[in-house]
Amino acid sequence: MKVLGIESSCDECAAAVVEDGRFILSNVVATQIPFHKAWNGVVPEIASRKHTEWIMGVADKALKKAGLGPEGIDGVAVTSRPGLLGSLLVGLTFAKAFAFSRGLPYIACDHMLGHLYAPRLVYASGTEFPPYPFIGLLVSGGHSIICRVEDFDRVTVLGTTIDDAAGEAFDKVAKFYGFGYPGGVCIDRLAQKGDSGAFRFPLPNLHKGSHDYDLSYSGLKTAVINQLEQFRIKKASDDESEKANIAASFQKTAVDILLRSLFRAAEDTGLSVIVAGGGVAANSCLRSSLAARKDLRCIFPPLELCGDNGAMIAGLGYQYLVRGESSGLDAPASARVSGFKRKYP
Ligand code: KG4
Ligand code: ZN
Repeated sequence: MKVLGIESSCDECAAAVVEDGRFILSNVVATQIPFHKAWNGVVPEIASRKHTEWIMGVADKALKKAGLGPEGIDGVAVTSRPGLLGSLLVGLTFAKAFAFSRGLPYIACDHMLGHLYAPRLVYASGTEFPPYPFIGLLVSGGHSIICRVEDFDRVTVLGTTIDDAAGEAFDKVAKFYGFGYPGGVCIDRLAQKGDSGAFRFPLPNLHKGSHDYDLSYSGLKTAVINQLEQFRIKKASDDESEKANIAASFQKTAVDILLRSLFRAAEDTGLSVIVAGGGVAANSCLRSSLAARKDLRCIFPPLELCGDNGAMIAGLGYQYLVRGESSGLDAPASARVSGFKRKYP
């Protein structure tokens, strides 16, 4: 079964064709980064306008790259939540129209479950995906979730951020220091040349009570931003090694925050397989730190499937469609997923 996946929840306009929920036949991602760069962040109005301009061309390219016409598609999957409402509506409306005009089933999908699905995708052949259950680590610009995963759609949240998401912390620190946009990638690159022990930033103190696996980034963010005054006094913005040291020290602490809760969750649940997804799963420090834990099996998507893409949605959508589920043409887009504190979605 060949599924066309559409993703437009934020600033990537993406479409892909995936066969049988596993094999990527095409994966087209048109990034809007150059259009948001001047604002150091995603401008929702610009994002939805660009999606409107691009979605037809991007979907067309995904079909062509897969060597298919519209008649070669058996079903459609699309992100309908969570994300920027205007952006989501463009992809959702396109997917509904495509499915309706061809008499195909379509399914409205959850973006975070898509990220969790990404490591299951392969281009030709690949290693077998581990059986459920496992621990999921979902880290993106809007979410940070540590969860127990029983199936592609059965996720129990063990811990989540009580303030900023991990990616948001990278983006905000980069913005304050003028490290560039998008923040996560710029800090990751800068940190390669820095000393992660140059600055000591605090880990949050959330251990007690029900916060065992929760995360917090506001303390780290404030501490790093407080350092900015010293940075300016020293006129360090021209000092590459000082910039790299700030980036490396922040990144190391941001990753330690994730790892501390993640390892505690693995230990307490007795689960030794960790599957990561979301934009921050591309972080080199996170990837190498997890790879160093030989007692755990850590599975990451390839770098190009960490960020937003249509393939993860096509793969996820296949699982619903093959089960006989589909969405109605009245399915709404939602900016947030309500009540995901302990049960997701
Ligand atoms: O999943 P994603 O592409 O979009 C959302 O669903 O939010 O994640 C985007 C986030 C941004 O905050 C970006 O700065 C972060 O992922 N990111 C990274 C890296 N690449 C992207 N954060 C740390 N290190 C990276 N290499
Ligand atoms: Zn995402």
